[in-house]
This record gives sequence, structure tokens and C-alpha cells, in this order.
Amino acid sequence: AHQWRGVLREYLDHLPFSEDDALLTLGEGGTPLVHAPTLSEQLGAEVHIKVEGMNPTGSFKDRGMVSAMTKAVNDGAKVVVCASTGNTSASAAAYATRAGIGCAVLLPEGKIAAGKMAQAVMHGARLIAVQGNFDDCLEIARKLDAAFPVELVNSVNPYRLQGQKTGAFEIVDALGKAPDIHVLPVGNAGNISAYWMGYTEYRDKGISGSVPQMWGFQAAGAAPFVAGRPITDPETVATAIRIGAPASWSLAADARDSSGGLISAVSDEEILEAQSLLASEVGIFVEPASAAGVAGLLKIKREGRTATGQERSIPKDSVITVTVTGNGLKDTETALKNKDLTPVTVPVDINAAAKAMGL
Ligand code: F0G
Repeated sequence: AHQWRGVLREYLDHLPFSEDDALLTLGEGGTPLVHAPTLSEQLGAEVHIKVEGMNPTGSFKDRGMVSAMTKAVNDGAKVVVCASTGNTSASAAAYATRAGIGCAVLLPEGKIAAGKMAQAVMHGARLIAVQGNFDDCLEIARKLDAAFPVELVNSVNPYRLQGQKTGAFEIVDALGKAPDIHVLPVGNAGNISAYWMGYTEYRDKGISGSVPQMWGFQAAGAAPFVAGRPITDPETVATAIRIGAPASWSLAADARDSSGGLISAVSDEEILEAQSLLASEVGIFVEPASAAGVAGLLKIKREGRTATGQERSIPKDSVITVTVTGNGLKDTETALKNKDLTPVTVPVDINAAAKAMGL
């Protein structure tokens, strides 16, 4: 039986590697594209969810990390470093372990979901809590890369985007064509840039006939693309996208503009509502940041405009794909904080259990 061989082998023809390279894999990619009937009905479109929480470390970062790590190891790197809001560090830690090299991660102190922290610890990374935000961490990571013999594996490393573009390939391969609109959360802006690269490459090679509009959504308290400039104090419950100065600014702006798309913002409340909806109506548990895309679609449907006042609507019966970037199990604390957690306690008794179930 055929087993998925990871993104580097599956998409080798489209990547800057060859059969001669020692290609790493933990089985990343090949994630499900799940049709969402209730959401489709609500939006008057055909909506499919790309479930990136199914990757080995529970987020889309594995696609780019396997690529950056393969390049680093083939170049003889002994230690990799990254700044992270959590997922990149979990992924870097896992792939560095797999590659047999060291990994140090710079994390904004007190702003990392417990599950992500657990992953980095369990995979043996050196954790450094920085008394600042992600943008501060990335600045330090870049300077370390310039001054010390360490390899930077943040998405400013071009091999990260190379790996991440395979998400777009998988969507076109699954649908048999490009969607009309692709929606995703935007933080450091690497992923929207990578998807755009993937979609345009498939079009340019004649594999798909068109490219989608790219619709990105930020958290309202961390929305530099809405402000039109970097912001200094990003704040949001969606800690994964608590970023004020996105590194891939110009690539993301190009993805937005060249595709005729948009980058708008959603409130924390809208993010948490969309997270609940994905869990309770679609059947997919994602972390808060990952729900920004669905939150954004619902907001555009409701309000008919973006956060900058541009009139936009959801074209009837359009095919929309939404990348949900990370697994809900990474941050159960935030998920449970907003739930009424009063379980019914019963003695060891079938009748009491039946009564508690309303039977
Ligand atoms: N969703 C999740 C779950 C993320 O972890 C991130 C980024 C994003 C969306 C945004 O993607 O940065 O490519 O625009 N997390 C990074 C990290 C910053 O360190 O894990 P982006």
C-alpha cells in the first residue's frame, strides 16, 4: 500500500532539492481537505477546510520546517535557531531532533500556549524566554544568525516558504483546479506568501488554469496590514499571530494585490466564536489563531466590507478553501476559558448516569 512520503519527496519536482539530497521527513503534508456543508450554506459558497493541525507537530509549520531543516543539515549546520509564538518552535524542535542537530528557540515570555511549550521541551530544544514580544525575538534571532554559527529557520529563510507552498499544491491536486478564494490567518505573513507562490507556480506550469484571490485575516489587536504599517504593541488572545512587524510584508502585500485579494482583521471575540463554530458544527478543533480565516469570511458576509472600509462580498457558489493552521489541542486553556465547564457529577450508578443524560 502507498504511504505518503512527506512533502519533499511527494513534490520533489517543484522544490529546490534532488534525489541526491538527504531528505528528512516525519510524514508531514498530505493533510485532509474537508468539505464544510453548514459553513457552505451560511456563506452561500462551497467551502473546504484544509486541516493543517493534522501535521506531525500539529501545525502547517512542518511543511516549511522539513525543507529548511533539510537544507540546514545538508549545509552542515549543527544548531538551528528560531523566534516563535509556539508552533515554529515545536516544529523546529521535532525536526532538529530528527536531523540529529541542536535547536534553540526564542519565545515571548508568558505568551506561549502550554501544548506548544510541552512539544519544544519534549523534543529537547533549548527554550529561551525573552522579555518582549515575537518581533523582539525575531530581531534577536536574526542577529544571532549573523554573528554566530547557527542557522535561522524562521520564514525569512527562503526554504521555509518553499516547503509551505506545497499546501497550495495539495489543494489544487485535491480539487482538480484552483479555488476561487483562498483564506488564511496572517501573522508573520510567511504562509500567505508561500501559498501564493504555490498557486502561481502551478498556474505557470499549466497544472491549474487560474489562481485564487488570497484573503488574509489578522487579529484586530495585531493588524499591521490594516494599519498599513508595523505596530509596536500587538495584543490578541490568538497568541500564534500576536505579531506587529511581519517579516514577509512585501511578499504578502504582493499576494494580496496581485490576486485581487484582501488582508483584513477580526476581533478576538469573532475569532473565539469561529473557533467554537469549527469545533461544534464542522467537527474540527483548531487553535484560536487558526479560526481567524473562518471568522473573517463570516464577517465579510455579515458586513460586506473589510476593516479598511473596502466593499467586498462572497461571490455566490464560489469555491473557497480555508487553511486552519494549527491543532486545538495545543491551547486547551484558551478553549476552556470560554466554556461553561460544569460537568454533571454522578455516583457509580447507571440510573444516575442515565438521568444525567436526560434519558
Ligand atoms: N496560525 C498559526 C497556528 C500560527 O502558529 C501562525 C504563525 C500563523 C497562523 C500565521 O502564519 O506567520 O506565516 O503568517 N506562527 C509563527 C510561530 C509566528 O512562531 O509559530 P504566518
